[in-house]
Amino acid sequence: MARLLIVDDEKNIRRNLVTFFESLHHEVSSVDSGAEAIKLINEKPFDLVLTDFRMAEMTGLDLLRDVKRSHPETLVILMTAYATVENAVTAMKAGAYDYVTKPFTLEQIQHTVERALQMQGLRAENRALRNTIEEAPLLESKSPAMMRLLETARQAAVSDATILLTGESGTGKNMLARQMHRWSPRRDKPFVVINCTTLSEELLESELFGHMRGSFTGAVKDKPGRLEAADGGTAFLDEIADLTPRLQTKFLRFVQEQQFERVGGEQTIRVDTRIVAATNRDLEAEVTARHFREDLFYRLNVITLRLPALRERREDILPLAEWLLDAASLRNQRAKLKLSQGAAAALTRYRWPGNVRELRNAIERAAVLTRGEEIAPDDLPDSLFRDASDAIARIPHSASLEEVEREHIARVLSESATLEEASEVLGINVTTLWRKRRRYGIE
Ligand SMILES: Nc1ncnc2c1ncn2[C@@H]1O[C@H](COP(=O)(O)OP(=O)(O)OP(=O)(O)O)[C@@H](O)[C@H]1O
Ligand SMILES: [Mg+2]
Repeated sequence: MARLLIVDDEKNIRRNLVTFFESLHHEVSSVDSGAEAIKLINEKPFDLVLTDFRMAEMTGLDLLRDVKRSHPETLVILMTAYATVENAVTAMKAGAYDYVTKPFTLEQIQHTVERALQMQGLRAENRALRNTIEEAPLLESKSPAMMRLLETARQAAVSDATILLTGESGTGKNMLARQMHRWSPRRDKPFVVINCTTLSEELLESELFGHMRGSFTGAVKDKPGRLEAADGGTAFLDEIADLTPRLQTKFLRFVQEQQFERVGGEQTIRVDTRIVAATNRDLEAEVTARHFREDLFYRLNVITLRLPALRERREDILPLAEWLLDAASLRNQRAKLKLSQGAAAALTRYRWPGNVRELRNAIERAAVLTRGEEIAPDDLPDSLFRDASDAIARIPHSASLEEVEREHIARVLSESATLEEASEVLGINVTTLWRKRRRYGIE
């Protein structure tokens, strides 16, 4: 069953088509002008619009153009009494799925409509398939740190405990939050994302807790908040460090008691919403600097999961890159692409300050740019190469090997958070690194 809209200024045609398509169990509406059609479509989109070409005010072609702009998924079929090739070509160019010439038999129009709907179904299926591939993250890891993290996340997902996700930008905090929801018994209930950065304090407050009509300018009706919308499910508070002090206080009460009042409301609302929060800032430092409430921090910090930076799990770079490449090939409808040896080496060597997000962008760009079936180093962003070549260019030709080593170790250390991280980049163990650091007098 599909939702169809018939647009024609001739009453008889409308009536015949409505009766006919209803007999085929479709949900059919009809109007006599383009303007009426647009009104109806904006209320609730249709799967297919069947419109006359020649109408008094707005032609079928104008309507088609409007629909394609506002609802690109809606199929449009034009009915024209003037079957000039010109009209037909213009219509198809403007995005019509097909056209039929008047007079037509009901069998003809049925055939055209059914074919259109079938094709729309296929498109939707394709999209769904692509979405599952895009959304499903790669949750296999060869890195011990990441494996431990995923194991803990899986266990924690089952409980109702509040979770705090930390880690550099692009490491996969949003991805993991969604995945933990899928792992939890709440998986069939809503997963709601609230970004604490983008809204003003007033808007964020109403976004979180909802508001009552008239509680501020623009509050024209009662509106439940996102914490309420997530009842039974999970609310993901992204960039939690950006909550203003007043909202921190209000949110603390929610975390403690699972209850709150809407903005301008008196009634206390109780919900069963699980909280997952994320930040790429050092929340403890924010507490010390008195930017973040300590009591809220401890409430959120029940289970903290720190996502490792991509350079701390180098063994995952190539599997991730290949996986992202497969998804990109599929999305661009290209044959499966492969990584050349040179490209693989460059990907493994790079520091990835933007983590998985940067890797994903690099791969998607390469998938579009490459001419062959293999990604060449040339298809990758320049930044992957600048890193290494700059550093090498700075070293004078007269330098001894020891000087080069000292220089390199100092640089990696300055870019790493921990000795472990630096030792992994350098490919030597921590003790060796520690000894070399002392010998070269590097701070
Ligand atoms: N394991 C994974 N498999 C596939 N894709 C991943 C994986 N982890 C992260 N990504 C992708 O990397 C990108 C960044 O991930 P995400 O948005 O979760 O990072 P984030 O830690 O929330 O970053 P930010 O701190 O900037 O918000 C997304 O496109 C995501 O799909
Ligand atoms: Mg994020």
